[in-house]
Amino acid sequence: MSGRRVLLIITGGIAAYKAQELVRRLKERGIAVRCVLTRAAKELVSPLALAALSGEKVYDDLFSLTDEAEMGHIRLSREADLVVVAPATADIIAKMAHGLADDLASTLLLATDKPVLVAPAMNPFMWRHPATQRNVAQLIHDGVEFVGPAEGDMACGETGPGRLVEPDVLVERILVRLEPQSQPLRGVRALVTSGPTCEAIDPVRFIANRSSGRQGHAIAAALARAGAQVTLVSGPVAIPDPPGVHTVHVESARDMLAACEAALPVDVAVCAAAVADWRPEMSAPQKLKKEEGAAPPVLRLVENPDILATLSRHERARPRLVVGFAAETGELEAAARRKRAKKGCDWILANDVSPGSQVFGGERNQVLLITGDGPAEAWPELCKEEVARRLVARIALALGRTAP
Ligand code: CTP
Repeated sequence: MSGRRVLLIITGGIAAYKAQELVRRLKERGIAVRCVLTRAAKELVSPLALAALSGEKVYDDLFSLTDEAEMGHIRLSREADLVVVAPATADIIAKMAHGLADDLASTLLLATDKPVLVAPAMNPFMWRHPATQRNVAQLIHDGVEFVGPAEGDMACGETGPGRLVEPDVLVERILVRLEPQSQPLRGVRALVTSGPTCEAIDPVRFIANRSSGRQGHAIAAALARAGAQVTLVSGPVAIPDPPGVHTVHVESARDMLAACEAALPVDVAVCAAAVADWRPEMSAPQKLKKEEGAAPPVLRLVENPDILATLSRHERARPRLVVGFAAETGELEAAARRKRAKKGCDWILANDVSPGSQVFGGERNQVLLITGDGPAEAWPELCKEEVARRLVARIALALGRTAP
């Protein structure tokens, strides 16, 4: 680990005292640590002790007034390989989520181009507050990684989620992020389908569905972060292309299948798109007009190709691992198992898309992972980015790579 650099931003929680232990353990592994303290953190932890432990100058708000000539904000935020915020208060999390930059710590977090790892520590009510949860969801969406909080007794006398994770846990996560092989899927080729498909009735009308593409895009982004070379074949969506991913935009199921076949061979395919099962038999070349007194047109539908089944049974280039989704509104597990067998994929992630579930178009997802005939794995309700991260960790394990 020698030569690796961490910028440690310490904000004002009681747990700030644990930062000294963290610096000591990182230094033991040859990792250079540069500390930044917020004004509140300075009341709780000694800058002098941190400077002695880290062997580096400790920066705080006054720095911006006196040392700007010596080291600019931007350089300070860019020189690290990883930015760690520990402990992270509800306040710094809120500032990060909103892009505020009114002190040195928040300015560095806005200016950095490096991965950011956040270890929250706060009162359980503050952690559970919808405002904090909204901010956390936004940051996860922005690619920030969270570790903790842990559950337990708090300094304030209350119990619940809000404790800073122990230094061991934090050090381990930092090491994983700093390791070059924290990209376990380097060299792996992946294909992801996402979003709805639109099946033209005429040049202006189409049949589609409520898929937002969020889950598929999050999976493509997580695969890319893990080092995979990713092709994302996306139906029409209102969200941006994920960074580091080759995105192919398509409209119809038939276009989606053609783009997927063109991307073969791949090692892994994840079909997250909500492909329209049927398309109008004929797509009118001109806009259909209402004729005076004529009956409304009758749409005859024909079945679309099944992309997941086609990839799963591909003779020439069957991916090593094919993962499908099962969107169900009735009995979940049995229907998903039948779908897995029918389509021939290896894994299936089943989700309940009943009207109340808000999965389609929503931010969160609750899935059952079925990988074989053994028991299904029920994941808790998670934001779609976290579902993606967990799925990618499982894919890495299945391909004999370590989890990210
Ligand atoms: N799928 C696909 N091509 C299709 C239909 C579905 O690739 N023409 C994929 C989806 O991307 C998903 C899985 O198959 O990974 C299951 O999709 P789902 O909508 O749950 O099932 P359907 O096959 O459409 O079956 P049904 O609507 O009868 O439940």
